[in-house]
Amino acid sequence: MKREIGRSGVTASAVGLGTWAMGGWMWGGGDDEASIAAIHASLDAGITLIDTAPAYGLGRAEEVVGRAIKGRRDDVVLVTKCGLVWDTDKGNAFVEQDGKTIHRYLGAQSVRAELEASLRRLSTDHVDVFITHWQDPTTPIAETMEALLALKAEGKTRAIGISNATRQDLSAYMACGQVDCVQEAYNMLDRGLENTLLPDCRANDISVISYSSLALGLLTGRIGPDRVFEGDDLRRTNPRFSSANLARVTAFASAIGPIAAAHQADVGQIVIAWTLAQPGITFSLCGARNDKQAVENAHAGRITLSREDLSSVDAAIASHLGPVAGAE
Ligand SMILES: NC(=O)c1ccc[n+]([C@@H]2O[C@H](COP(=O)([O-])OP(=O)(O)OC[C@H]3O[C@@H](n4cnc5c(N)ncnc54)[C@H](OP(=O)(O)O)[C@@H]3O)[C@@H](O)[C@H]2O)c1
Repeated sequence: MKREIGRSGVTASAVGLGTWAMGGWMWGGGDDEASIAAIHASLDAGITLIDTAPAYGLGRAEEVVGRAIKGRRDDVVLVTKCGLVWDTDKGNAFVEQDGKTIHRYLGAQSVRAELEASLRRLSTDHVDVFITHWQDPTTPIAETMEALLALKAEGKTRAIGISNATRQDLSAYMACGQVDCVQEAYNMLDRGLENTLLPDCRANDISVISYSSLALGLLTGRIGPDRVFEGDDLRRTNPRFSSANLARVTAFASAIGPIAAAHQADVGQIVIAWTLAQPGITFSLCGARNDKQAVENAHAGRITLSREDLSSVDAAIASHLGPVAGAE
């Protein structure tokens, strides 16, 4: 299943491969060879959309993607981002990584320098989509957008997107030029977008790329009470992963079991198919640690849920996952 990214003319697979965990940071470390296998398996399974960012392991995920797509660049709709930088004190301090303070900063020169650095790490001369990763309250959006539009005019990107943005941010970007996509958290547990950016995107032909579509893996139904999250894995301290919530997800998985069986699918695949069936959700990014996960997620793009299936899944969400959402 392929879909257009906004009005860019660029089309990509509806399921996209996310590479945050491949950077290791906040995921208890990564395994580059397993990551490369996941990227190759995704491409072999028909995925074209690959999402990365400089911040994922301070360049590590981009380098892994660059290695993996060598010789296959034309098969990839490559998305990277800007706006989280660790070489300046400008903007505002956001998070720490490996002893470095990451700043949210979207000044024009920095945006350009970031793209050049990404192109080097990715071993390519252009990306297909360039997204502002987090918004920087210290730089006027007009300045950032002017830089993005210039990079697009130079052929260094084919589409422009924004992430972790408000409706006001989106309006300000749109006032300066064409925005083709937003990238926001969206899954069965995180549906706030339906009342914020989603209607604006639908009204303006802007694609929505959901991130954390599996709620950091929780919605695969495969994380049991014995699972130990290693090192800096952000799930260690996330209340979403409490044993009570794991039990709720298990009950949800049982409830949708017959639908999964009818589609010869796993729970996670039904979750992804449901996400892609939501009005206005154009693409669904799913992280994968290895080739097996990558192929499973890719195949979810082939599942079409009927209206009855969707009603049953919605009923199961309401019955079993409502309390999980409330735990956020
Ligand atoms: N713009 C932003 O600010 C932003 C923020 C977050 C994410 N993103 C993008 O969106 C992508 C997807 O989101 P995400 O990675 O945060 O979360 P996600 O897709 O909800 O979950 C990914 C994790 O779930 C587990 N998993 C995935 N497929 C599985 C399968 N088939 N079976 C069992 N477990 C499976 C893996 O972790 P384990 O194997 O370790 O359990 C994997 O790392 C990211 O990689 C990134 O590219 C963007």
